[in-house]
Amino acid sequence: MKTDERIGVGFVGAGAVVKTIHVPVLGQMAQEFRIEAVWDINTSAAESLAQQVGARVIPGFEEMLADPRVEVIVVATPAGCHAEHVAAGMRAGKRAILCEKPFGSSLDDIRLVEEAAATSDVPLLIGAMHAFDPGWSAISETVAHMREQAVAIRSSIVLPFNERFEQWATELPPRAPPELDAEDIAMLLMRMGIMELAIHDLPLVRAMIPEGAPITVTSAMPLEPFGYAISLSAGDRVIDLFGYIHDSWKPSWELEAVSADQSLCLEFTPSFVHAGSATARISGTLETDIVGPFARNGYQMEWQAIRELARGRPFPIPPLAQVIGDFRFALDIVEQSCAKIAAGAGQ
Ligand SMILES: NC(=O)c1ccc[n+]([C@@H]2O[C@H](COP(=O)([O-])OP(=O)(O)OC[C@H]3O[C@@H](n4cnc5c(N)ncnc54)[C@H](O)[C@@H]3O)[C@@H](O)[C@H]2O)c1
Repeated sequence: MKTDERIGVGFVGAGAVVKTIHVPVLGQMAQEFRIEAVWDINTSAAESLAQQVGARVIPGFEEMLADPRVEVIVVATPAGCHAEHVAAGMRAGKRAILCEKPFGSSLDDIRLVEEAAATSDVPLLIGAMHAFDPGWSAISETVAHMREQAVAIRSSIVLPFNERFEQWATELPPRAPPELDAEDIAMLLMRMGIMELAIHDLPLVRAMIPEGAPITVTSAMPLEPFGYAISLSAGDRVIDLFGYIHDSWKPSWELEAVSADQSLCLEFTPSFVHAGSATARISGTLETDIVGPFARNGYQMEWQAIRELARGRPFPIPPLAQVIGDFRFALDIVEQSCAKIAAGAGQ
């Protein structure tokens, strides 16, 4: 008979996001969750995390799926493995799955998850933390207004260098496999910029454009040493996506939208930082409202959602069709941006 009523969590992947984001949040919710098990193809990564959090190392993913003490799985492997791990977790009938963003890496991943979801009712939460940020959740009326009437939307992310970006920017070009030329590398870095960085804001951008609006990327430039500047249109809306990793610029993370009579500016805290929610500034023709910041951040809200869902209680998370729509949106931007790079290189 089970005496510990806390929800048992299993980590699939024991890398940076687990150590710096999920473990600290679960530490704050230790009355409700216990970290039960860790699986990573890198055994020493699994062992070191398991030792740090007092969990078991599981010898294989199948064992984790079969273990009833692992009730919730966190998929925190690289994007190319997400769909496979999510689908397996659904088939195993876990109580809930938290899969880090992005949803996957290719269109094939959609079919894999949809097939598993067709015979399973396991809730899936994709960890796009800004979509769960209380500063964003609190402005749903403004978001609905922008969906109807926004003229322009801008996502701008400026971050200092960290080990990860440094590795991409400095190791990839000189150490790239010989079959990759400069154009291939530019496309690879563009893809990373969109799927690793811009992806945080893309579900929010999509929420502010009409459902199904066709998108056209009008320009896409990779920035040295690591970044992207992309302009696109969605129907009659103009969207700018800017991301730059630079040490001398002031870090900032903003999402803005403007209509004829309202403007919205959301300021987020950087990812990996547990510093409360975004703050929204909404300016109308007569007055400006400030919403937030709230004490909790998007990561904490993700885990609140997982707690409720794992207990069988309702909690409003984006449905599967919506997260798949967000993923298609991101892939469409990747494809069109890479096509722009290829077209530019051919001129
Ligand atoms: N929400 C956020 O703010 C945020 C921040 C960073 C990363 N992420 C996302 O989290 C995911 C993981 O990122 P990370 O920074 O922790 O990466 P990481 O490289 O630090 O860790 C990934 C881990 O997965 C392991 N792994 C790889 N393939 C595996 C497999 N088939 N089975 C088991 N383990 C496997 C690796 O050995 C590694 O330890 C990515 O999808 C990334 O985009 C999200």
